[in-house]
Amino acid sequence: MSKRIGILTGGGDAPGLNAVIRAIVKYGAGQKGWEVFGIEEAYNGLFKANKQIFELTPNNIGGLLTKGGTILGTTNKGNPFAPDETGDIPAPKIAASILEHKLDGLISIGGDGSQTIAHRLMTEYGVPIVGVPKTIDNDLHNTDYTFGFWSAVDVATDALDRLHTTAESHDRVMVLEVMGRTAGWIALYAGLSGGADCILIPEIPYDSGSVIRKIVERRGSGKHFTLIIVAEGAKPIEEDDGKPTEGTSNKFVSGKASHKIAQEIANHLDVECRVTVLGHLQRGGSPVAFDRFLATRFGIHAVDLVEANRWGEMVVLQNNAMSSIPLSEVAGTPREIPLSHELLETARKSGISLGEPK
Ligand code: F6P
Repeated sequence: MSKRIGILTGGGDAPGLNAVIRAIVKYGAGQKGWEVFGIEEAYNGLFKANKQIFELTPNNIGGLLTKGGTILGTTNKGNPFAPDETGDIPAPKIAASILEHKLDGLISIGGDGSQTIAHRLMTEYGVPIVGVPKTIDNDLHNTDYTFGFWSAVDVATDALDRLHTTAESHDRVMVLEVMGRTAGWIALYAGLSGGADCILIPEIPYDSGSVIRKIVERRGSGKHFTLIIVAEGAKPIEEDDGKPTEGTSNKFVSGKASHKIAQEIANHLDVECRVTVLGHLQRGGSPVAFDRFLATRFGIHAVDLVEANRWGEMVVLQNNAMSSIPLSEVAGTPREIPLSHELLETARKSGISLGEPK
């Protein structure tokens, strides 16, 4: 049966968003004959006067597989259940707009926050939604990976490779800060792939003495440079209050974690220490092959869920197979690296310091 579907992207962008849109349009519009609409800037396109919705067809999605960002635009601000700048609560307007546009439902491509909103819109306002998980942080529960993660890991690994040659030439300590406020997946994967000597993650509050010992140890064995990768949410033990680093985007300033450990090193050792904050380079640009591949699988599976009227579910990758979970099971909390994770052990066995006290 023919359908009218809206697609939106919410939260921070991630490489692969456009590849998901492309897959949905190719399959939904191109093969099933549905009408597929892009909604501008998350839910804003459904109720804000300066935002719109527009039809997506196989003819106007050319080049999307490799294009970074999202052609729909996105935002990580705003909560449809709280009053906006006009004092109105957007959620009922969103539900009314769905009816007005005669949409059968939405496919929401977004992270934890977006999927939690999707679940509330479904249960409280009857808006039919299928979710597709996204975040470079890879910190969503119930899915092996989110698309965007491997692109970020690749950028961070490339940065470590580049820092390696300059660190070695100058006998320097190089500190690379990567994204991850509450979960250190990017730091861990890139650190292992790029040969970091120390990996500091939010899950393991670090002892700066232990990082300093690692540098000294390396110098003792003739290695006069050290590469440190630090997730932006990593904290020294003495500052660990058990709470995650500030979640809201406007309060958080990147660069603190890397400068903190660099300053500690400079205070204690006679070494040249330099900091690189990778920031949004990790989110921009073309998705790597794995993210294009995963985004395409997610998009196709999302259409299959819509076809089967399995509203209220989110596509996931489990044991490398497509599956789905109820939106109600989207935890609302980030998936941190379990302290028993095999990769932490792999890092230790490779001689990498995780900043753990002796
Ligand atoms: O959630 C993805 C993420 O990239 C985080 O790793 C990062 O801390 C945050 O978004 C940055 O968001 P903003 O776009 O608000 O700077």
